[in-house]
Amino acid sequence: MSKTAAEITRATATANLEPYWMPFTHNRYFKQHPRMLVRGEGAYVWSDDGRKLLDGLAGLWCCHAGHCHPRIVAAVQEQVATLDYATAFQFGHPKIFALAEGVTRLAPPGLDHAFFVNSGSEAVDTALKIALAFHRMRGEGHRTRFIGREKAYHGVGFGGISVGGMMPNRKLFGAMLPGVDHLPHTHSLTDMAFSRGQPQWGAHLADELERIVALHDASNIAAVIVEPMQGSVGVIVPPQDYLQRLRAICDKHGLLLIFDEVITGFGRLGTNFAAQRFNVVPDMITFAKGVTNGVVPMGGVLVRKDIYDTFMTGPEHAVEFFHGYTYSGHPLAAAAGLATLDVYEQEELFARASRLESVLEDAVHSLKGLPNVVDIRNIGLAAAVELAPLEGKPGVRAMNAFLRCWDDGVLLRQSGEALVVAPPFITRELEIEKIVEAMRKAILAVA
Ligand SMILES: Cc1ncc(COP(=O)(O)O)c(C=O)c1O
Repeated sequence: MSKTAAEITRATATANLEPYWMPFTHNRYFKQHPRMLVRGEGAYVWSDDGRKLLDGLAGLWCCHAGHCHPRIVAAVQEQVATLDYATAFQFGHPKIFALAEGVTRLAPPGLDHAFFVNSGSEAVDTALKIALAFHRMRGEGHRTRFIGREKAYHGVGFGGISVGGMMPNRKLFGAMLPGVDHLPHTHSLTDMAFSRGQPQWGAHLADELERIVALHDASNIAAVIVEPMQGSVGVIVPPQDYLQRLRAICDKHGLLLIFDEVITGFGRLGTNFAAQRFNVVPDMITFAKGVTNGVVPMGGVLVRKDIYDTFMTGPEHAVEFFHGYTYSGHPLAAAAGLATLDVYEQEELFARASRLESVLEDAVHSLKGLPNVVDIRNIGLAAAVELAPLEGKPGVRAMNAFLRCWDDGVLLRQSGEALVVAPPFITRELEIEKIVEAMRKAILAVA
């Protein structure tokens, strides 16, 4: 029998919070001031004290169709009672093949094969391994270097933090992967603050790739990996023409271009993938989160046919790619993924995200002029409001604003000095305005 909110409240009030080491969390502060979520439905979640909160971040950029969508819930319930697990090594089950077809149908032309994993981090490490192995199998095993970008978030595997560019995610972890360079990030308060959508300034920063190529020679470089829009660091939108230039330089030098679309995939920018929004087709796309609406962990890598074909050589009885996870293509994730793609299509949710873009844009840009607001950025159904740091206390002003929003019934994310908003695509216009009004009150409160 499901518990009432009051019973859950009693249970969490007496729970021992100490044994759980929480990820990416201020553990000691949290355990003094817990924020417990106990239920979700549509655009809302409920806390253990019975408060209903607007989910302004779609979980963690995952729940595009909202929480506990009945069709996705039913698909997972049916699957768990039918085939709970199936190994993906030397066996298949029908739903994962169907999901590969469904995901590749949404991808830009040419990216017609999908490898499944369980998270964005695994997707990134998998893509990097595919890049190395691809070059090696073509007789270019000297192409081993990777190029990432400052401020990038590519998950927490050793590959991902090596090409990633967020200092706190890297500084405690030693040398990481050898042979990685970083492009400069594209954010500049001086040149692009308060841009709506893609900033006009910054395409020239792609030319830094030429400098790195000149330093190492292209023959030593395997791939360039970027998030088309940098989400985790606080919605850094690519300058106009920047991704096109990266693509052209990669083509010129035979470098693979990987788009990490863990956040931007499945409609966040109003198109299936960011690749379609920006009209730039990479050689691989990593995805996760929205593929199952966040309901069951899943990630994956989309690859070009000729990359897949390069592996499909050698004796037919031999394994072609020594890589995979116990839970790759898990039946529950496959069922959730298939139901999710159906919901996206039938409820036309990507078009809805696209329609809501201007609503969110107008709402967040109305915060310009409030105390300490130094930048507002947006694209698709994602936006960030950056605040001036409190003297000597980096991140604290944004954290206080985030906590005010929580008190006020709106769940957002704090990233450094920024408040980040990326609601489910089913969110209504009035609810978007409510989220932004909570941000306004919070910003005034922490002035
Ligand atoms: C662009 C990008 N890549 C990778 C990841 C890591 O995904 P996960 O947390 O599922 O490992 C994230 C997570 O937010 C992400 O935004």
